[in-house]
Amino acid sequence: MSQLALHGGQPIRTEPFPSWPVHGVREEELALEVLRSGQWWRYTLGEAVDSGASASKVAEFQQRFAEAHGCKYGIACVNGTAALEIALKALGVQPGDDVIVPPYSFIATASAPMLIGANPVFCDIEIDTLNLDPAKLEAAITPRTRAIIPVHFAGLAADMEAILHVANRHGIPVLEDAAHAHGGTWNGRPLGSIGAMATFSFQASKNMTAGEGGIVVTNDEDLAEIAESLVWVGRKKGRPWYEHHRLGWNYRLTEFQAAMLLAQLERLPEQTRTRQANGAYLTAQLERIPGIHPMAVPAFAAGHAWHIYCLRFVASEFGITREKFLEALAAEGVPGSSGYAHSLFNNPLFDESYQRYNELCPASNQACREAVWFEHRYLLGSKADMDSIAAAVSKIYHHRAELAG
Ligand SMILES: Cc1ncc(COP(=O)(O)O)c(C=O)c1O
Repeated sequence: MSQLALHGGQPIRTEPFPSWPVHGVREEELALEVLRSGQWWRYTLGEAVDSGASASKVAEFQQRFAEAHGCKYGIACVNGTAALEIALKALGVQPGDDVIVPPYSFIATASAPMLIGANPVFCDIEIDTLNLDPAKLEAAITPRTRAIIPVHFAGLAADMEAILHVANRHGIPVLEDAAHAHGGTWNGRPLGSIGAMATFSFQASKNMTAGEGGIVVTNDEDLAEIAESLVWVGRKKGRPWYEHHRLGWNYRLTEFQAAMLLAQLERLPEQTRTRQANGAYLTAQLERIPGIHPMAVPAFAAGHAWHIYCLRFVASEFGITREKFLEALAAEGVPGSSGYAHSLFNNPLFDESYQRYNELCPASNQACREAVWFEHRYLLGSKADMDSIAAAVSKIYHHRAELAG
Protein backbone atom coordinates (compact mmCIF):
# COMPACT_ATOMS: atom_id res chain seq x y z
CA MET A 1 0.00 0.00 0.00
CA SER A 2 1.28 3.47 -0.88
CA GLN A 3 3.04 5.59 1.68
CA LEU A 4 1.05 7.63 4.21
CA ALA A 5 0.29 11.18 3.06
CA LEU A 6 1.64 12.28 6.44
CA HIS A 7 5.01 10.85 5.35
CA GLY A 8 5.00 12.34 1.86
CA GLY A 9 2.84 9.76 0.04
CA GLN A 10 -0.13 10.45 -2.23
CA PRO A 11 -3.28 11.27 -0.20
CA ILE A 12 -6.34 9.06 -0.72
CA ARG A 13 -8.44 12.18 -1.47
CA THR A 14 -7.54 15.50 -2.97
CA GLU A 15 -11.10 16.64 -3.75
CA PRO A 16 -13.19 18.26 -1.01
CA PHE A 17 -16.37 16.61 0.27
CA PRO A 18 -19.71 18.27 -0.65
CA SER A 19 -19.99 21.72 0.86
CA TRP A 20 -22.66 22.85 3.33
CA PRO A 21 -25.18 24.45 3.29
CA VAL A 22 -26.69 23.28 0.03
CA HIS A 23 -28.66 26.08 -1.63
CA GLY A 24 -30.00 27.05 -5.02
CA VAL A 25 -32.77 28.76 -6.94
CA ARG A 26 -35.39 28.04 -4.29
CA GLU A 27 -33.49 29.88 -1.54
CA GLU A 28 -32.92 32.78 -3.95
CA GLU A 29 -36.61 32.99 -4.92
CA LEU A 30 -37.86 32.98 -1.36
CA ALA A 31 -35.21 35.42 -0.10
CA LEU A 32 -36.07 37.81 -2.94
CA GLU A 33 -39.78 37.57 -2.13
CA VAL A 34 -39.04 38.72 1.39
CA LEU A 35 -36.60 41.39 0.27
CA ARG A 36 -38.98 42.92 -2.26
CA SER A 37 -42.01 42.71 0.03
CA GLY A 38 -40.28 45.07 2.46
CA GLN A 39 -41.83 42.96 5.21
CA TRP A 40 -38.72 41.58 6.81
CA TRP A 41 -40.60 41.08 10.05
CA ARG A 42 -44.22 40.09 10.42
CA TYR A 43 -46.75 40.10 13.21
CA THR A 44 -47.59 36.39 13.49
CA LEU A 45 -48.65 35.99 17.13
CA GLY A 46 -51.59 33.61 17.06
CA GLU A 47 -52.32 34.52 13.43
CA ALA A 48 -53.92 32.01 11.09
CA VAL A 49 -51.55 31.17 8.24
CA ASP A 50 -52.59 32.44 4.86
CA SER A 51 -50.74 31.16 1.83
CA GLY A 52 -49.07 32.60 -1.24
CA ALA A 53 -46.18 34.96 -1.73
CA SER A 54 -47.70 37.59 0.59
CA ALA A 55 -47.97 35.21 3.56
CA SER A 56 -45.62 35.40 6.52
CA LYS A 57 -42.70 33.08 5.92
CA VAL A 58 -42.28 32.57 9.67
CA ALA A 59 -45.91 31.48 10.07
CA GLU A 60 -45.73 29.22 7.04
CA PHE A 61 -42.46 27.68 8.15
CA GLN A 62 -43.70 27.03 11.66
CA GLN A 63 -46.68 25.16 10.31
CA ARG A 64 -44.78 23.16 7.70
CA PHE A 65 -41.93 22.19 9.99
CA ALA A 66 -44.31 21.12 12.76
CA GLU A 67 -46.38 19.03 10.32
CA ALA A 68 -43.25 17.40 8.90
CA HIS A 69 -42.28 16.46 12.45
CA GLY A 70 -45.62 15.02 13.52
CA CYS A 71 -46.70 18.06 15.55
CA LYS A 72 -49.62 20.45 15.46
CA TYR A 73 -47.69 23.49 16.70
CA GLY A 74 -44.32 25.02 15.91
CA ILE A 75 -42.92 28.18 17.50
CA ALA A 76 -39.85 29.48 15.70
CA CYS A 77 -37.19 31.33 17.67
CA VAL A 78 -33.65 32.69 17.51
CA ASN A 79 -31.70 29.49 18.21
CA GLY A 80 -31.81 26.01 19.69
CA THR A 81 -30.62 27.17 23.11
CA ALA A 82 -33.47 29.68 23.33
CA ALA A 83 -35.85 26.94 22.18
CA LEU A 84 -34.79 24.81 25.15
CA GLU A 85 -35.26 27.72 27.57
CA ILE A 86 -38.71 28.44 26.16
CA ALA A 87 -39.81 24.80 26.32
CA LEU A 88 -38.53 24.36 29.87
CA LYS A 89 -40.34 27.50 31.00
CA ALA A 90 -43.53 26.43 29.21
CA LEU A 91 -43.32 23.09 31.00
CA GLY A 92 -43.31 24.99 34.28
CA VAL A 93 -39.67 24.46 35.30
CA GLN A 94 -38.85 26.92 38.09
CA PRO A 95 -35.64 28.20 39.67
CA GLY A 96 -34.27 25.50 41.99
CA ASP A 97 -35.85 22.60 40.09
CA ASP A 98 -33.76 19.73 38.72
CA VAL A 99 -33.61 18.84 35.03
CA ILE A 100 -32.01 15.56 33.93
CA VAL A 101 -29.65 15.86 30.96
CA PRO A 102 -26.96 13.70 29.32
CA PRO A 103 -23.37 14.91 29.88
CA TYR A 104 -22.31 14.02 26.34
CA SER A 105 -23.95 16.92 24.50
CA PHE A 106 -23.51 20.53 23.48
CA ILE A 107 -23.48 22.92 26.45
CA ALA A 108 -26.98 24.23 25.66
CA THR A 109 -28.61 21.03 26.93
CA ALA A 110 -27.31 21.87 30.41
CA SER A 111 -27.03 25.66 30.18
CA ALA A 112 -30.66 26.20 29.12
CA PRO A 113 -31.95 24.84 32.46
CA MET A 114 -29.30 26.94 34.25
CA LEU A 115 -30.31 30.08 32.37
CA ILE A 116 -33.78 29.81 33.88
CA GLY A 117 -32.39 29.05 37.35
CA ALA A 118 -32.78 25.25 37.34
CA ASN A 119 -30.04 22.69 38.08
CA PRO A 120 -28.78 20.21 35.49
CA VAL A 121 -28.58 16.67 36.89
CA PHE A 122 -26.39 14.50 34.68
CA CYS A 123 -27.39 10.98 33.71
CA ASP A 124 -24.81 8.87 31.85
CA ILE A 125 -25.06 7.71 28.25
CA GLU A 126 -24.85 4.29 26.58
CA ILE A 127 -21.41 3.90 25.08
CA ASP A 128 -22.62 2.19 21.89
CA THR A 129 -25.22 4.84 20.94
CA LEU A 130 -23.97 7.91 22.90
CA ASN A 131 -27.59 8.50 23.99
CA LEU A 132 -29.06 8.81 27.48
CA ASP A 133 -28.89 5.46 29.28
CA PRO A 134 -32.44 4.63 30.43
CA ALA A 135 -31.05 2.06 32.88
CA LYS A 136 -29.46 4.92 34.84
CA LEU A 137 -32.40 7.30 34.65
CA GLU A 138 -34.33 6.20 37.72
CA ALA A 139 -31.29 6.78 39.97
CA ALA A 140 -30.94 10.34 38.66
CA ILE A 141 -34.48 11.35 39.63
CA THR A 142 -34.81 13.56 42.72
CA PRO A 143 -37.90 14.98 44.45
CA ARG A 144 -37.23 18.22 42.52
CA THR A 145 -36.94 16.71 39.02
CA ARG A 146 -39.30 18.63 36.73
CA ALA A 147 -38.08 17.62 33.24
CA ILE A 148 -35.93 15.05 31.44
CA ILE A 149 -34.08 16.10 28.28
CA PRO A 150 -32.89 13.21 26.12
CA VAL A 151 -30.74 14.34 23.18
CA HIS A 152 -31.10 12.37 19.94
CA PHE A 153 -27.37 12.53 19.65
CA ALA A 154 -25.96 12.82 16.13
CA GLY A 155 -29.52 12.31 14.84
CA LEU A 156 -29.90 8.81 16.33
CA ALA A 157 -33.13 8.37 18.29
CA ALA A 158 -32.73 7.94 22.03
CA ASP A 159 -34.50 4.91 23.56
CA MET A 160 -37.76 6.79 23.99
CA GLU A 161 -39.83 3.80 25.09
CA ALA A 162 -37.57 3.07 28.04
CA ILE A 163 -37.15 6.78 28.86
CA LEU A 164 -40.91 7.45 28.74
CA HIS A 165 -41.56 4.38 30.86
CA VAL A 166 -39.50 5.83 33.72
CA ALA A 167 -40.65 9.44 33.13
CA ASN A 168 -44.35 8.57 33.02
CA ARG A 169 -44.10 6.52 36.20
CA HIS A 170 -42.82 9.65 37.96
CA GLY A 171 -45.09 12.10 36.11
CA ILE A 172 -42.07 13.99 34.70
CA PRO A 173 -42.39 15.55 31.22
CA VAL A 174 -39.85 14.61 28.56
CA LEU A 175 -38.42 17.37 26.38
CA GLU A 176 -36.63 16.01 23.30
CA ASP A 177 -33.49 17.95 22.40
CA ALA A 178 -33.71 17.27 18.68
CA ALA A 179 -31.07 19.83 17.66
CA HIS A 180 -29.37 17.05 15.64
CA ALA A 181 -32.46 15.21 14.53
CA HIS A 182 -34.35 17.00 11.73
CA GLY A 183 -36.26 14.45 9.70
CA GLY A 184 -35.26 11.50 11.91
CA THR A 185 -37.66 8.92 13.32
CA TRP A 186 -38.15 6.65 16.33
CA ASN A 187 -40.10 3.49 15.54
CA GLY A 188 -41.23 5.27 12.38
CA ARG A 189 -42.58 8.29 14.28
CA PRO A 190 -40.97 11.69 13.67
CA LEU A 191 -38.43 12.71 16.28
CA GLY A 192 -39.84 15.75 18.03
CA SER A 193 -43.35 14.30 18.32
CA ILE A 194 -42.73 11.76 21.07
CA GLY A 195 -42.15 13.77 24.25
CA ALA A 196 -44.33 16.58 25.63
CA MET A 197 -42.27 19.10 23.66
CA ALA A 198 -39.18 19.13 21.46
CA THR A 199 -36.64 21.65 20.24
CA PHE A 200 -34.54 21.92 17.09
CA SER A 201 -31.60 24.14 16.09
CA PHE A 202 -30.97 25.73 12.68
CA GLN A 203 -27.44 26.92 13.47
CA ALA A 204 -25.00 26.77 10.55
CA SER A 205 -23.74 23.23 11.13
CA LYS A 206 -27.20 21.66 11.45
CA ASN A 207 -28.99 19.51 8.83
CA MET A 208 -31.29 22.47 8.09
CA THR A 209 -29.98 25.96 8.54
CA ALA A 210 -30.61 29.66 8.23
CA GLY A 211 -27.23 30.48 9.77
CA GLU A 212 -28.98 30.61 13.15
CA GLY A 213 -32.48 29.74 14.30
CA GLY A 214 -34.51 27.32 16.37
CA ILE A 215 -38.01 25.97 16.88
CA VAL A 216 -40.12 24.46 19.65
CA VAL A 217 -42.70 21.87 18.56
CA THR A 218 -45.53 20.23 20.48
CA ASN A 219 -48.96 18.67 20.10
CA ASP A 220 -50.23 20.38 23.25
CA GLU A 221 -52.23 23.54 22.54
CA ASP A 222 -51.72 25.05 26.00
CA LEU A 223 -47.94 24.52 25.93
CA ALA A 224 -47.81 25.98 22.41
CA GLU A 225 -49.66 29.08 23.51
CA ILE A 226 -47.32 29.66 26.45
CA ALA A 227 -44.25 29.03 24.29
CA GLU A 228 -45.43 31.51 21.67
CA SER A 229 -46.15 34.10 24.32
CA LEU A 230 -42.64 33.61 25.76
CA VAL A 231 -41.10 34.28 22.33
CA TRP A 232 -43.20 37.46 22.07
CA VAL A 233 -42.12 39.11 25.34
CA GLY A 234 -45.07 37.69 27.23
CA ARG A 235 -47.74 39.03 24.88
CA LYS A 236 -51.00 37.18 24.40
CA LYS A 237 -52.82 36.72 21.12
CA GLY A 238 -55.83 38.97 20.71
CA ARG A 239 -54.63 41.29 23.49
CA PRO A 240 -53.12 44.77 23.12
CA TRP A 241 -49.53 45.09 21.88
CA TYR A 242 -48.25 46.72 25.09
CA GLU A 243 -49.83 44.23 27.44
CA HIS A 244 -47.50 41.58 28.89
CA HIS A 245 -48.84 38.52 30.64
CA ARG A 246 -45.68 36.69 31.63
CA LEU A 247 -41.94 37.23 31.77
CA GLY A 248 -40.81 36.52 28.22
CA TRP A 249 -38.10 37.29 25.70
CA ASN A 250 -37.92 38.77 22.24
CA TYR A 251 -36.75 35.53 20.65
CA ARG A 252 -38.42 36.00 17.26
CA LEU A 253 -37.09 34.82 13.91
CA THR A 254 -36.93 37.13 10.87
CA GLU A 255 -38.79 36.54 7.61
CA PHE A 256 -35.42 36.12 5.85
CA GLN A 257 -34.44 33.23 8.08
CA ALA A 258 -37.83 31.59 7.61
CA ALA A 259 -37.44 31.94 3.83
CA MET A 260 -34.14 30.02 3.99
CA LEU A 261 -35.69 27.41 6.25
CA LEU A 262 -38.70 26.84 3.99
CA ALA A 263 -36.32 26.04 1.15
CA GLN A 264 -34.11 23.88 3.38
CA LEU A 265 -37.15 21.95 4.59
CA GLU A 266 -38.02 21.09 0.99
CA ARG A 267 -34.53 19.61 0.55
CA LEU A 268 -34.53 17.67 3.83
CA PRO A 269 -36.32 14.40 2.90
CA GLU A 270 -34.04 13.63 -0.02
CA GLN A 271 -30.91 14.69 1.81
CA THR A 272 -31.91 12.51 4.76
CA ARG A 273 -32.37 9.49 2.48
CA THR A 274 -28.92 10.08 0.97
CA ARG A 275 -27.31 10.41 4.40
CA GLN A 276 -29.07 7.25 5.58
CA ALA A 277 -27.92 5.19 2.61
CA ASN A 278 -24.36 6.48 2.85
CA GLY A 279 -24.27 6.21 6.66
CA ALA A 280 -25.23 2.53 6.57
CA TYR A 281 -22.82 1.86 3.70
CA LEU A 282 -19.93 3.56 5.49
CA THR A 283 -20.61 1.65 8.69
CA ALA A 284 -20.47 -1.65 6.80
CA GLN A 285 -17.02 -0.68 5.46
CA LEU A 286 -15.59 0.73 8.67
CA GLU A 287 -16.73 -1.87 11.16
CA ARG A 288 -14.40 -4.43 9.58
CA ILE A 289 -11.35 -2.45 10.70
CA PRO A 290 -9.97 -3.31 14.17
CA GLY A 291 -10.44 -0.52 16.71
CA ILE A 292 -13.12 1.27 14.66
CA HIS A 293 -16.58 1.04 16.25
CA PRO A 294 -19.29 2.95 14.40
CA MET A 295 -22.34 3.79 16.52
CA ALA A 296 -24.92 1.02 16.91
CA VAL A 297 -28.26 1.75 15.24
CA PRO A 298 -31.04 0.01 17.20
CA ALA A 299 -34.09 -1.08 15.15
CA PHE A 300 -36.21 1.74 16.63
CA ALA A 301 -33.65 4.27 15.34
CA ALA A 302 -33.50 3.05 11.73
CA GLY A 303 -34.72 6.49 10.62
CA HIS A 304 -31.39 8.01 11.66
CA ALA A 305 -31.06 11.74 10.84
CA TRP A 306 -27.24 11.46 10.62
CA HIS A 307 -26.25 14.91 11.82
CA ILE A 308 -22.81 13.54 12.67
CA TYR A 309 -21.19 10.33 11.47
CA CYS A 310 -19.78 9.15 14.75
CA LEU A 311 -17.53 6.25 15.70
CA ARG A 312 -15.45 5.18 18.68
CA PHE A 313 -11.75 4.88 18.03
CA VAL A 314 -10.24 2.36 20.45
CA ALA A 315 -6.55 3.17 20.48
CA SER A 316 -5.49 -0.10 22.15
CA GLU A 317 -7.14 -2.11 19.32
CA PHE A 318 -6.02 0.09 16.43
CA GLY A 319 -2.48 0.52 17.69
CA ILE A 320 -2.02 4.33 17.64
CA THR A 321 -3.45 7.28 19.57
CA ARG A 322 -6.64 9.03 18.42
CA GLU A 323 -4.67 12.24 17.92
CA LYS A 324 -2.19 10.50 15.59
CA PHE A 325 -5.08 8.83 13.78
CA LEU A 326 -6.85 12.16 13.19
CA GLU A 327 -3.63 13.77 12.02
CA ALA A 328 -2.97 10.98 9.53
CA LEU A 329 -6.61 10.98 8.41
CA ALA A 330 -6.60 14.72 7.70
CA ALA A 331 -3.41 14.29 5.65
CA GLU A 332 -5.25 11.64 3.57
CA GLY A 333 -7.92 14.26 2.78
CA VAL A 334 -10.51 13.11 5.33
CA PRO A 335 -10.56 15.62 8.21
CA GLY A 336 -12.37 14.35 11.31
CA SER A 337 -12.90 15.79 14.76
CA SER A 338 -12.49 14.41 18.27
CA GLY A 339 -15.82 15.99 19.27
CA TYR A 340 -16.51 17.19 22.79
CA ALA A 341 -13.30 17.59 24.77
CA HIS A 342 -15.12 17.22 28.11
CA SER A 343 -18.25 15.72 29.54
CA LEU A 344 -20.35 18.81 30.22
CA PHE A 345 -19.78 18.67 33.99
CA ASN A 346 -16.00 18.89 33.50
CA ASN A 347 -16.23 22.31 31.86
CA PRO A 348 -14.80 25.18 33.94
CA LEU A 349 -18.37 26.52 34.19
CA PHE A 350 -19.19 23.86 36.77
CA ASP A 351 -17.97 24.00 40.36
CA GLU A 352 -16.29 21.25 42.41
CA SER A 353 -19.59 19.68 43.43
CA TYR A 354 -20.07 18.45 39.85
CA GLN A 355 -16.88 16.36 40.05
CA ARG A 356 -18.97 13.55 41.53
CA TYR A 357 -20.34 12.93 38.04
CA ASN A 358 -16.97 11.55 36.96
CA GLU A 359 -17.89 8.43 38.97
CA LEU A 360 -21.52 8.43 37.90
CA CYS A 361 -20.93 9.00 34.18
CA PRO A 362 -17.93 6.91 33.02
CA ALA A 363 -19.41 6.24 29.56
CA SER A 364 -19.58 9.95 28.79
CA ASN A 365 -15.93 10.41 29.74
CA GLN A 366 -15.02 7.37 27.64
CA ALA A 367 -16.88 8.88 24.66
CA CYS A 368 -14.87 12.09 25.06
CA ARG A 369 -11.65 10.05 24.90
CA GLU A 370 -12.68 7.82 21.99
CA ALA A 371 -15.10 9.61 19.67
CA VAL A 372 -14.30 10.55 16.09
CA TRP A 373 -16.85 12.65 14.21
CA PHE A 374 -17.32 13.34 10.53
CA GLU A 375 -19.56 16.18 9.36
CA HIS A 376 -22.90 15.23 7.83
CA ARG A 377 -21.98 16.87 4.54
CA TYR A 378 -19.61 13.94 3.89
CA LEU A 379 -22.71 11.71 3.79
CA LEU A 380 -24.18 13.87 1.01
CA GLY A 381 -21.46 12.56 -1.27
CA SER A 382 -21.31 9.45 -3.46
CA LYS A 383 -20.55 5.81 -2.63
CA ALA A 384 -17.05 6.55 -3.95
CA ASP A 385 -16.71 9.27 -1.30
CA MET A 386 -17.66 6.72 1.37
CA ASP A 387 -15.16 4.23 -0.08
CA SER A 388 -12.46 6.88 0.17
CA ILE A 389 -13.14 7.39 3.90
CA ALA A 390 -12.90 3.64 4.49
CA ALA A 391 -9.77 3.44 2.29
CA ALA A 392 -8.08 6.22 4.27
CA VAL A 393 -8.84 4.54 7.60
CA SER A 394 -7.71 1.19 6.28
CA LYS A 395 -4.48 2.67 4.87
CA ILE A 396 -3.64 4.20 8.24
CA TYR A 397 -4.38 0.87 9.95
CA HIS A 398 -1.95 -0.93 7.69
CA HIS A 399 0.74 1.67 8.35
CA ARG A 400 0.01 1.94 12.09
CA ALA A 401 3.43 0.60 13.09
CA GLU A 402 5.06 3.67 11.47
CA LEU A 403 2.85 5.96 13.55
CA ALA A 404 2.98 4.18 16.90
CA GLY A 405 5.08 5.38 19.79
C1 LIG B 1 -27.58 18.88 21.26
C2 LIG B 1 -27.72 20.37 21.07
N1 LIG B 1 -28.67 21.03 21.74
C3 LIG B 1 -28.85 22.35 21.60
C4 LIG B 1 -28.06 23.09 20.76
C5 LIG B 1 -28.23 24.57 20.71
O1 LIG B 1 -28.52 25.07 19.47
P1 LIG B 1 -28.07 26.57 19.06
O2 LIG B 1 -26.62 26.52 18.72
O3 LIG B 1 -28.95 26.85 17.88
O4 LIG B 1 -28.36 27.47 20.21
C6 LIG B 1 -27.06 22.45 20.02
C7 LIG B 1 -26.19 23.21 19.09
O5 LIG B 1 -25.16 22.77 18.66
C8 LIG B 1 -26.88 21.05 20.19
O6 LIG B 1 -25.91 20.39 19.53
